[in-house]
Amino acid sequence: MTTKIQVVFYSMYGHIYEMAEAVAAGAREVADTDVALYQVAELVPDDILEKSGAKAARAPFAHIPVIAAEQLKDADAVIFGTPTRFGNMCAQMRNFLDQTGGLWMSGGLVGKVGSVFTSTATQHGGQETTITSFHSTLLHQGMVIVGVPYSEQGLLNMDEITGGTPYGASTLTKADGSRRPSANELAIARFQGRHVAEIAKKLAAK
Ligand SMILES: Cc1cc2nc3c(=O)[nH]c(=O)nc-3n(C[C@H](O)[C@H](O)[C@H](O)COP(=O)(O)O)c2cc1C
Repeated sequence: MTTKIQVVFYSMYGHIYEMAEAVAAGAREVADTDVALYQVAELVPDDILEKSGAKAARAPFAHIPVIAAEQLKDADAVIFGTPTRFGNMCAQMRNFLDQTGGLWMSGGLVGKVGSVFTSTATQHGGQETTITSFHSTLLHQGMVIVGVPYSEQGLLNMDEITGGTPYGASTLTKADGSRRPSANELAIARFQGRHVAEIAKKLAAK
């Protein structure tokens, strides 16, 4: 039986997209998984995206399809990626989740695995609050939350500035967005994808 994994993200400048590809690659390492990447719909007007440089930064992932809320019910596991906005998920992700009322009413996501990864500009800019506050929505939906256990040794790395939390993978972007996900952060992201896929596979087999 194939385990269906969705990686659902929003990214304005591509950091979360890079992490999403690493998460998806990790999930693909598990046999018999079908892994699909989706982005959530944009809310920022086009001219503002153009002025901020976000439009150009997003060209590499413009081909990733925009997901409709109803599609979530096709997955065994959903791994969500969101940049932080003031220590919370971004509005685009919140807007997407707020369209899952029908799934909430029908119990469409109950028992599926849910997992979250994030990015911040600064080292202490709210990675953990972004992920754990996201978890409330997943719990209301009846999802089974999976993070990143310390068996992923990258979480213990103190030799460099790095993201990575037991709640989910993370990256640091710098205020000007010039820092890209590091090897350690991408390894943790791959671990998260693989770990979620392994657990989803076990749950789906029951
Ligand atoms: C409105 C707004 C609020 C933000 N709030 C925070 C914050 O609280 N802490 C922080 O470290 N970075 C903050 N950032 C920076 C973003 O998290 C950063 O640009 C993002 O993680 C980059 O990921 P992306 O390239 O995938 O969009 C904020 C950015 C914006 C536009």
